[in-house]
Amino acid sequence: MRLDKYLTEMGIGSRSEVKQGIRKGFARVNGETAVRPEFKVDEKDRVTWKGTPVDFVAYEYIMLNKPAGVVSATEDKRDRTVLDLVKDARRKDLFPVGRLDKDTEGLLLLTNDGKLAHRLLSPKHHVAKVYYARVQGVMTEADVQRFKEGFAVDDELTALPAELEILSVCEGDTCEIRLKIFEGKFHQVKRMVQAAGKEVLYLKRLSMGPLVLDAALAPGEYRSLTEKEQEALYAE
Ligand code: URA
Repeated sequence: MRLDKYLTEMGIGSRSEVKQGIRKGFARVNGETAVRPEFKVDEKDRVTWKGTPVDFVAYEYIMLNKPAGVVSATEDKRDRTVLDLVKDARRKDLFPVGRLDKDTEGLLLLTNDGKLAHRLLSPKHHVAKVYYARVQGVMTEADVQRFKEGFAVDDELTALPAELEILSVCEGDTCEIRLKIFEGKFHQVKRMVQAAGKEVLYLKRLSMGPLVLDAALAPGEYRSLTEKEQEALYAE
C-alpha cells in the first residue's frame, strides 16, 4: 500500500499532514528516507516516523466494559461516545459492533473488522447475548415459560425463544435476572421485560457469542482481545 495511506491508517495524522511530513523527510522505510507519499510499502517493511517505529496493524479488537452515560456510536454532537473512552487505539477506524443503550453497561466489542461485525450482527446467525438485569416487579416461573416459547412483545416485535433465569429470590418488588437472547432488536431486553409487566432498572451485557466480559474491567475500562478470543469469535 502507499506510504501515506499506511501512516494515515496508523493514526499519524490526516492524509494531507502525512503527505507534507513525508515530503519533509519525516518518514523512513527500512532505514532510508522516503520522500514520496506514493512509495509502496507492506507489513514486512520497517517504517519510522520522526525516528519512532510505526508497526502496521490491519485489524484491532477491543473489549470495552461500557459505562452508563456514553453512546454506542463513533461520533455524536452531544454525548461522549464509546470511542472517546479508548485513548490509545492503534487504528483510527474502529466502530462498536452493535449498540447498547446509553444507560446500559457491559460488554461491547470495538473493531475495524467489518466482516466479523457483519457476521456477529446478522439476524441469520442468532448469536447468543447474555444480559444481567435488575427489574422492578416480580419475575415468575410463568415468565420463564413464556420467554422460553417466544412471544409477541408488541406490535413490531415477536421475540424468539429466550432463556430467562431468576437469579435471586425476588426481594420486595425487585428481581435479578439473567436473560439469554438470540437476536438484538432495538431495546430488546427492556421491551421483553416490559411485556411481562415489569421494568428494567439496570442492564448489563455479560457476553456475546463466545466472548465474555472480563470481570477485571471496571466500567469504562478496556483491553485488547486475546488471540484465543479472536479465534473463538471467528469460529462462531
Ligand atoms: N436490550 C436493551 O433493551 N437495551 C440494550 O442496551 C441491549 C439490549
